Amino acid sequence: MVSAASPDQFPKDGLPEIAFLGRSNVGKSSLLNVLTAQKNLARVSSTPGRTRWVNFFRYGSDLYLADLPGYGYAKVPEAVRLSWEHLVTSYMVDRAPLALCLFLVDVRHDPTDGDATLREFLEQNGLRYALVATKADKLGRGELARRVSALQKGLGARAQDVVAVSSQTGAGTDALWRLIRTAAVNHPKGSMA
Ligand code: GTP
Ligand code: MG
Repeated sequence: MVSAASPDQFPKDGLPEIAFLGRSNVGKSSLLNVLTAQKNLARVSSTPGRTRWVNFFRYGSDLYLADLPGYGYAKVPEAVRLSWEHLVTSYMVDRAPLALCLFLVDVRHDPTDGDATLREFLEQNGLRYALVATKADKLGRGELARRVSALQKGLGARAQDVVAVSSQTGAGTDALWRLIRTAAVNHPKGSMA
């Protein structure tokens, strides 16, 4: 793992990177842990705003999973918020190894202003992204289908895909791995079969 507090600390080997983005507490670090089948690789916390750097987890010799600080956590001082925002945008703009962004939203909640801003940012910068609806275990089957369908028509209308996942049950993680592998293998430096 590489923890980067500034752009000069980002990996330099050019391996494809998959970025985990979204509101604070949406479940980025938890998802990263189940995807890699490790309990405490990325720190999960009941305290929002726990992830403060860009944490790159190298997955074999194939790719990096990049855990980014979340937005929308009100208790963060303005100066800290600005420094995170700067770090995240400096990562996403012109980052050649970035193969796919995973844009996480809590399946139970309507999109926030921060979500709308992130969508705009992704689209304006021509970044490929999939919308990932987290905490799917919190809803029954019918309600889950309704929420996912609303996301497909709304926030995720221009996303490459919309996938519902649960870090608690593992639901949706196979589908998400397929998206990750496809993006990585199609990346110029991708080698994953
Ligand atoms: P920041 O680092 O603050 O941006 O948060 P994060 O997006 O990394 O969220 P994190 O993974 O730390 O999870 C936040 C809280 O949501 C924790 O209490 C998790 O246990 C809980 N959580 C995450 N994923 C799921 C899920 O799929 N189901 C349920 N029920 N709870 C989840
Ligand atoms: Mg986190």
